[in-house]
Amino acid sequence: GHENNSLAKSPMEESNLSANTVMDHPRAITDKIALIRDAGPSKFQVIADFDATLTRYRVNGLRGQTSHGLLQQGNAYYDAKRQALYDHYHPLEISPVIPVDEKTKLMEEWWSKTHELLIEGGLTYDAIKKSVADSSIAFREGVTELFEFLEKKEIPVLIFSAGLADVIEEVLRQNLHRTFKNVKIVSNRMVFNDDGQLVSFKGKLIHVLNKNEHALDMAAPLHDRLGVATGEEDEENANMKKRTNVLLMGDHLGDLGMSDGLNYETRISIGFLNDNIEKSLESYREAFDLVYLNDAPMWGALELVSQLFSTEA
Ligand code: TMP
Repeated sequence: GHENNSLAKSPMEESNLSANTVMDHPRAITDKIALIRDAGPSKFQVIADFDATLTRYRVNGLRGQTSHGLLQQGNAYYDAKRQALYDHYHPLEISPVIPVDEKTKLMEEWWSKTHELLIEGGLTYDAIKKSVADSSIAFREGVTELFEFLEKKEIPVLIFSAGLADVIEEVLRQNLHRTFKNVKIVSNRMVFNDDGQLVSFKGKLIHVLNKNEHALDMAAPLHDRLGVATGEEDEENANMKKRTNVLLMGDHLGDLGMSDGLNYETRISIGFLNDNIEKSLESYREAFDLVYLNDAPMWGALELVSQLFSTEA
């Protein structure tokens, strides 16, 4: 139960801006709920960003880590080299003056160099496990319950990230203490050799600027990603595209693009506004159906999907 939280109320009834909370757009959302409910769970999917959306923005008062940020190769030389790349490229990533085509090239450069260093430095899967165990990364409260509800309803969850799929999966394993068969990670995926050493990455590089453009096409590792496709994957991808109602969750306005590959019918969007609240609140309210502030838990999202597909339905 989560009755100790103010969000246990329907998010639609809640519109104050107190400590950990919600703001909503009652406007369209009631209609959307009715449409999605009528179409049923087989038409529905959840698409979520990972860092600072499913995970907390702050952990114990400090900025929580990302899948890239937490990774320690156990080799000080390579860890320092990746940090130097971060110090160089991160300011470029967030620069408001670099044109997008130029920035895209820079991000490709950054991601390629980082991936090269991980390979060159002989990253092992054991180092990933240890890094995750030592990391300060934490899920928002209620993520497990949300995933469990969706699993029971056989509703798929696609997690998109420009980070590292193998690290994210280890974070899920260690922090949620179980795996979910309905949860799929679309991110940069590693290939290890028999000695457990990283030798390459699979498919197309996913960086911050292309993650949202092609997210759904990358969802199933089809021909263009791997050069192979099993019948199962083809079927899976086709099924995802038939799920034309979507709950989208992200922490950047750009995350709204995650559903672009889908010709969606009805979309409810949740924005988690973590930083620069004063400055960004208005644009987030405009862009998202619901906005959650201050590392709000997932109870609002759980409440929403429960309303959509209550057990009686
Ligand atoms: P995302 O998780 O929101 O999709 O974005 C990934 C973040 O990872 C992005 O903000 C930049 C960061 N990053 C690092 O911290 N270190 C790296 O080596 C690389 C390539 C990215």
